[in-house]
Amino acid sequence: MLSRDEQTTPTPVVLGGQVESSIDSPDWPIWDQPERDALARVLESGWWAFEGPAEAEFEQRFAELQTARHGLCVANGTVALQLALEALDIGVGDEVIVPGFTWQATAATVVDVNAMPVLVDADPETYCPDPGGIEGAITPRTKAIIVVHLYDSLSDMDRILEIAARHHLHVVEDCAHSHGSQWNGRGVGSVGDIGTFSFQSSKTLTAGEGGFVTTNDEVLFDRLYSLRNCGRRRKGAITPATHDVQSGNYRMTEWQSAILLAQLERFEEQMKTKEQNAAVLDSTLGRIPGIKPMRRDRQVTRRNLYGYVFRYVEEEWQGLSCRAFRKAMSDEMGFEFGAPYRPLNMSSLYRPQTKKRHHLSEQYWDALDPGNYALPVAEHAYRHEAVRVLHQNLLTNPREISQIPKAVQRLRGFLPELLDWERSLPEGEWGAPPE
Ligand SMILES: Cc1ncc(COP(=O)(O)O)c(C=O)c1O
Repeated sequence: MLSRDEQTTPTPVVLGGQVESSIDSPDWPIWDQPERDALARVLESGWWAFEGPAEAEFEQRFAELQTARHGLCVANGTVALQLALEALDIGVGDEVIVPGFTWQATAATVVDVNAMPVLVDADPETYCPDPGGIEGAITPRTKAIIVVHLYDSLSDMDRILEIAARHHLHVVEDCAHSHGSQWNGRGVGSVGDIGTFSFQSSKTLTAGEGGFVTTNDEVLFDRLYSLRNCGRRRKGAITPATHDVQSGNYRMTEWQSAILLAQLERFEEQMKTKEQNAAVLDSTLGRIPGIKPMRRDRQVTRRNLYGYVFRYVEEEWQGLSCRAFRKAMSDEMGFEFGAPYRPLNMSSLYRPQTKKRHHLSEQYWDALDPGNYALPVAEHAYRHEAVRVLHQNLLTNPREISQIPKAVQRLRGFLPELLDWERSLPEGEWGAPPE
């Protein structure tokens, strides 16, 4: 353990000390005159719906950013996943392998197309779906794999594409956390068959709500277009007319595209700043006993962070719980050091057995039960290990960001007192981490 200078080391905030550290990070979302002007232009143009000039420009620019041949705005990231599955003709009788450690939509949309989500555990060093677990979950009914690029890591697309090719499976990339990131020089969302994105307000590119789908396949693009737009054919569609589909309205508005174009102007700079700061955190936190940065795969050639995540090892902190550490760090820094998603086998937001329309048969209903799955890596991460910082807290300079490792060191210097503090807390005082 680090020694501390009793005279000069300030007492941690949870032990009654004053706030020593804070980072001057912006409120999210960031907006300014360009957003005002963009909205005024849409207002005055009278073109408020879909397929306006802002949407056309945004679709082209965002698809390019992800190195995809085609891109389409849709209502949100959940709808993007649903339409991806429908475009791949996935439905009753099909199984889809999905990560058990993700936002609920990644699995819920599989249920919404009446297919069976099969949950797999996470890679302990990236928290993205474990390729070995994916391969082990394949059955003759498996039609597709949905991977998620979670927080600041990317799924191992080399291994996943290889597994998918061997078993003739489709791959959908859920890129809600990874706008701008690249795997081996290719934008995420253009590596698998279809990529899906969210522009919901917490995301690193946002219009409050909104979503996007990317693909390199023109037939899939035609289908995605029709599915988004009440079954209408895309002008210039290459697919024969007999392929028209029944669908609904899953479009996005011109207001959102206009905002997204304005947000895009700041995006590259923000991405660079976060990456620089993440590099500082990786190297400094990685030198502190009991703290492990996530694995950085060399195939990740460009990275946008939705959050910065690191691993806390309770045993190396004499059993001080990760929950206590998250709380102590949050108080120390004045912003959240939070828990990751609650794994889907224990999430209150993933309840596939609650809607009549999903009660296709007793067998299907029983198989939907998330309690059928054990996800030990994800459960351990959620309860005992993962610490997540929001992306906007990395929008600062390297000098400020280095207050984070200093705060961790300070806590380490007060370990006996922190252990006493945790023991003194009434049972259940903090409640469960939010979902
Ligand atoms: C990993 C992941 N997938 C899908 C979604 C769904 O996106 P939306 O909220 O835009 O529907 C989210 C949103 O939080 C997400 O984090």
